[in-house]
Amino acid sequence: MPKDVYDLTDLRDWQAVTAEGQPPIRVAVFGDPVAHSASPPMHNAALEALGIPSRYARVQVKPDELAEALQLLRAGNFVGVNLTIPHKAAAPGLIDEVDEHAQTLGAVNTISVDGQRLRGFNTDGPGFVRAIRADFSVDVRDLRIMILGAGGGAGRGIAVQCALERCERLVLVNRTFAKGALLRDELSSRMSGPELLGPVERLEAVPWERDAIQRQLENVDLLVNATSVGMKFSDPPLLPGVLLPPHLLVYDTVYSSGRTRLLQNAAEAGARGANGLSMLLHQGALSFEIWFGREAPLDVMRTALNDAVG
Ligand code: ATR
Repeated sequence: MPKDVYDLTDLRDWQAVTAEGQPPIRVAVFGDPVAHSASPPMHNAALEALGIPSRYARVQVKPDELAEALQLLRAGNFVGVNLTIPHKAAAPGLIDEVDEHAQTLGAVNTISVDGQRLRGFNTDGPGFVRAIRADFSVDVRDLRIMILGAGGGAGRGIAVQCALERCERLVLVNRTFAKGALLRDELSSRMSGPELLGPVERLEAVPWERDAIQRQLENVDLLVNATSVGMKFSDPPLLPGVLLPPHLLVYDTVYSSGRTRLLQNAAEAGARGANGLSMLLHQGALSFEIWFGREAPLDVMRTALNDAVG
């Protein structure tokens, strides 16, 4: 019987454990926890729609098991894997090649098995750029962007991507201020350039304080929540709703079946909002294209994601 979640023991004996299921599992997500991942329904719908004889599965891999799990990919005849929490930052040191973009981000979310070599990529950042374009019809490079939770794993990836795109302005907000300040220092060389913005800095780290955030929002077009706050509707509000001006675009990387409180506040303020499902969709489509060398069927994947999460 195919399992909902496999583990390292299964990987060690992969051919025998998965012998019965058809088509064979040749792609997977490694994570800890991984049971909640919405990637399998999305990728399986795409594989089925294109008639590719492979399935995508979840594999529970603990941090101290990652190195062995990756080494088992070749014997398991995998095409590739996605990595999710908490493996993205550890992966670059455990594989044969890391593409330049993933190196800059310091994180790998996609691995392809290329002959004997494991090659790492990061599709989260490019997925974010595509999501913003799809949801708001604007390009990241044309926006003044504030990231809440910029010092966390997801926030850092988005911030680096925004800097690589040379967005107009980047404001890094993190509860632990030092992490945001460190990231600002790291990104400063990428965000240097002519000062066209008047009295505000092009790149700033800002403390998580109501007044400071409110002031900054006057010079921001896109607000991104990259913290995990909002996954449960009972979570306290991330920001008081009154802080959100109606011109703001609000992107919440959190996705849940209903509207997050942040997105509800945005709607009440007359601001446009979108949730992290589009980022999940586009990073998944880019991973699919790396593995299978063909265009991903976005509509099929979007429908499967909505069904899985909704
Ligand atoms: P990661 O492994 O990605 O760092 P995390 O610990 O869940 O995951 O933190 C993600 C981000 O959410 C961090 O920026 C974190 O802020 P700190 O760096 O200060 O820990 C932020 N975060 C988590 N809970 C928060 C809360 N209640 N209010 C504000 N930010 C929060």
